[in-house]
Amino acid sequence: MKVLEAEFVRGFIRMAGDGWDQGWHERNGGNLSYRIKPEEAASVEEEFSRREWQPIGTSVPDLAKEYFLVTGSGKYMRNVSIKPEDSICIIELDEKGENYRICWGLVNGGKPTSELPSHLMNHEVKKNVTGGRYRVIYHAHTTNTIALTFVLPLKDETFTRELWEMATECPVVFPDGIGIVPWMVPGGRDIAVATSELMKKYDVAVWAHHGMFCAGEDFDLTFGLMHTVEKSAEILVKVLSMTPNKRQTIEPDDFRNLAVDFKVTLPEKFLYEKH
Ligand code: 13P
Ligand code: ZN
Repeated sequence: MKVLEAEFVRGFIRMAGDGWDQGWHERNGGNLSYRIKPEEAASVEEEFSRREWQPIGTSVPDLAKEYFLVTGSGKYMRNVSIKPEDSICIIELDEKGENYRICWGLVNGGKPTSELPSHLMNHEVKKNVTGGRYRVIYHAHTTNTIALTFVLPLKDETFTRELWEMATECPVVFPDGIGIVPWMVPGGRDIAVATSELMKKYDVAVWAHHGMFCAGEDFDLTFGLMHTVEKSAEILVKVLSMTPNKRQTIEPDDFRNLAVDFKVTLPEKFLYEKH
């Protein structure tokens, strides 16, 4: 099968376009990766031509020999659907999980996203904690969530609770909460370590003054998670723009009742008393 005909590639391309439509991907902002199933890789291998091994910049031994579909560094999410062969690539990792090589795509040169260390370290954590279920890591420059990192304390508890309060579906969609990475230099191993540490507990990590990372099982769930968090952040921005004081809100006991009916576990650390 041709790479561009494969369902996982079509899903990836559609998600890139959906993110662009949301306004989350100015210029080359944001990046996306998918951990390809062995049978999916085998189904498109006829089109592979393998290039030189390159260092990942970190080590992900539990992802050794796996294949990933990733956006290219400096490539525009907007262009993924228009010229996918130029914008995205399939990479293969070596037997130690320390080097990668491009097998398909980036036909006009280039390399995988500069956030490859964060994507791969997050994939490694998620593969381990979900028994291999999670396959998608998504980074976007979500406007409202970024805005909140200038005014809320950069604490997991605060972001989780404030965003839960803004939409009743939130605690059901991200019951484990949200982690916050303080401002750090992007693109390297340090921010990858900090983010993947949070991914052991959460599916969402916010990068202060930069954007968001979401992890999930498939394209729909991962996009839906990003969309839900950002929508909630938008509501909070609107509320804070009207008044610093909410007149009424969803209270801790309301969340506890919701948790029972929706069969989710909401950690008590997020249900603190505010007054
Ligand atoms: P890339 O173009 O290298 O993917 O970088 C975009 C970005 O959002 C960096 O955080
Ligand atoms: Zn970014």
